[in-house]
Amino acid sequence: MRRIVYILVFLLFQGILAQQGRMIIPSELSKDLISRMQEMGSKLTADNIYSPNKTSLNDAVIQFNGGCTGEIVSPEGLILTNHHCGYAAIQSHSTFEHNYIKDGFWSKSFEEELPNPGMYVSFVRKIEDVTERVLTGIDKDADTRQKQAIIQKNINRLKKSLPKQDWQDIQIKSFFNGNSYYAFTVENYKDIRLVAAPPSSIGKFGADTDNWMWPRHSGDFSIFRIYADKNNRPAEYSPDNVPYQTDAYFKISLKPKKAGDFFLIYGFPGRTKEYLPAVAVQQKVEIINPARIKTRKTVLDIMKSYMSKNDTIKLQYTAKYARIANYWKKWIGENQGIKGSGAIEKKKNFESYFLSQVKTKKMDPEYLNIFDKFDKLYQQNRDIELARNYFIEIFYLNNDLLKRAFYLYNLKQTYRQKAKGDFDKLQKKYAEQLAGSFTNYNTDVDKAIFIALMNLYAKNMPDKYQNTSLKSDNIDILAGNIYQNSVLNNQKALKKLLKKGPKKFIEIINKDTGYTFAETFINDYYQKIAPDYQNIRSKINSFQKIYMKGIQQTLNNRPVYPDANGTLRISYGVIKGYEPRDAVYYYPISHVKGIIEKYIPGDYEFDVSQKLIELYKNKDYKPYSNTGEMPVDFLGTAHTTGGNSGSPAINSEGELIGINFDRVWEGTMSDLYYDQKICRNIMVDINYVLLVIDKIGNDKRLIDEMILIK
Ligand code: ARG
Ligand code: ASP
Repeated sequence: MRRIVYILVFLLFQGILAQQGRMIIPSELSKDLISRMQEMGSKLTADNIYSPNKTSLNDAVIQFNGGCTGEIVSPEGLILTNHHCGYAAIQSHSTFEHNYIKDGFWSKSFEEELPNPGMYVSFVRKIEDVTERVLTGIDKDADTRQKQAIIQKNINRLKKSLPKQDWQDIQIKSFFNGNSYYAFTVENYKDIRLVAAPPSSIGKFGADTDNWMWPRHSGDFSIFRIYADKNNRPAEYSPDNVPYQTDAYFKISLKPKKAGDFFLIYGFPGRTKEYLPAVAVQQKVEIINPARIKTRKTVLDIMKSYMSKNDTIKLQYTAKYARIANYWKKWIGENQGIKGSGAIEKKKNFESYFLSQVKTKKMDPEYLNIFDKFDKLYQQNRDIELARNYFIEIFYLNNDLLKRAFYLYNLKQTYRQKAKGDFDKLQKKYAEQLAGSFTNYNTDVDKAIFIALMNLYAKNMPDKYQNTSLKSDNIDILAGNIYQNSVLNNQKALKKLLKKGPKKFIEIINKDTGYTFAETFINDYYQKIAPDYQNIRSKINSFQKIYMKGIQQTLNNRPVYPDANGTLRISYGVIKGYEPRDAVYYYPISHVKGIIEKYIPGDYEFDVSQKLIELYKNKDYKPYSNTGEMPVDFLGTAHTTGGNSGSPAINSEGELIGINFDRVWEGTMSDLYYDQKICRNIMVDINYVLLVIDKIGNDKRLIDEMILIK
């Protein structure tokens, strides 16, 4: 009996391998995985997917501006990614007369494509396992710090010695909590221009209400292009640059989709933590997430009340609201998903299986007390984690005035620690960013948020980290004083301040009511919270590394997928619906019909453009759909996370069938615990993307640039 239970636990933990593979390192595609994919319909070989020596799919996948993914879809460097990934760039080109967010943007020639200073994309040309070379020369008895120092030294040496071209970089990343290391040969292209974007009524349809949800009807795409120098190499922006030339680009499949179709997601997932012990997940769900949810709910409620009364504020705060709401909503879904899937129980079961394996396989006895160690550390960790999360949410992420204080704080530190040249450079950069922070800003809203957040801080900060200068009975007065007198709330004064030399600058901020208030808290953070956090984190990390190694040993002969760490991965699956709750089944493909069902004229989330309504009325969808119904979004079983946005969804022939952009709410706990029953990724159908480019943007030149396969 016990044995059967263990086998079950084991299979559950493995996510039932037969049906999909998760976040695989492309250079590690085993024969076994390739044949599993082929059983599901794939015709791809390992070489088609990744090859360091010849053109393969990896050469057509890019990390987009550090946080998203994109794909090349033409011989002239045309990129598809999500609308929400290109949002800031689209917004930066928008003015009152040319509102590209609202109305969309369709360049009709290379000359009309718009440069975006600071934007970059990265190709991965080669992936190499360098574990042995990174972990060499480490004394087994050395302490964590000494070990880390040697690892760092080895990494630095390798970065210099691994072969590469002048225009390439070497990045070395840790996998399996430091048990493995891989080197990536990357190329960063820095002249990236905006080519096209749909109106937000398409690109952001459903906005916050539909975010993380199915059924979904968003056309979440935007289009960019890589420019290169005359030798096709990376270069800073120049009007002389030319479109990047490549034979590595996706052809596009117009074939209709159906449930059961195989697909592959190729992209840059940011972070997952699938191998935490049960006690860590419990802490996240019971302590950390509730604190963050509560903080953000406070902020969102205040924003919403102002936004609903005032249209100017609504416009100013829409993007901010969306950013804060995104993870607020995700954490709520994550908590429900952990409970609904019984993840903590299942993890505990796995832990007893693990211990039994340690005994039967006679593994290192240090494994036997690892869960006691975790229990103790996570108990000690509790208040520190809480304090850190409250501090970051309150002082850094959700209030503009307090965030400005950080810029001034950094400048002051820079002057103290470094040369005056650094101060001048940073000051110039900050002056620009801080000026920008007043564009979508309203003093009343920010002040109301400040008051609410300070009350929250006074009430919830664990005693050890409480700031004694904060008395809940005078927060209103304090806020009144700060918002009236501080440079942090005064655009002109702040601009003037950021032109002063360092001495004068410091003299002024040291007398400023807002800055001096914030500084005592920032000092608390750097002097108390952060050191405590680092201290305990390094202990937890070293046990997590041991535990991870143990998991790999107990599950030998089975692939164990490394957590996401921002590096290139593939994840495969099939198009498939799901059952979110009893007696409810969600079909995996949504249609334009559903957009019309959700249509609320004039609404900021559910308005629909007249052009799309006409296409719907005339069923004018050909050649992108010949059935009279136009697919919009679809669901699949690929394991994805933040950073996978914009990733190509690729069919069995290696053609592009969609762009990944989200996950379903019931499955957002996949970052901690992947449950194949309810975890689904959401993609926009490439046929819908083409329909919008062709019949709403009338941008035929873009259609002609791509290769469409009927
Ligand atoms: N939930 C998706 C992701 O995490 C899409 C987010 C788009 N942004 C938004 N705030 N609605 O990134
Ligand atoms: N929306 C996410 C992103 O922007 C994707 C996800 O979390 O599933 O990367």
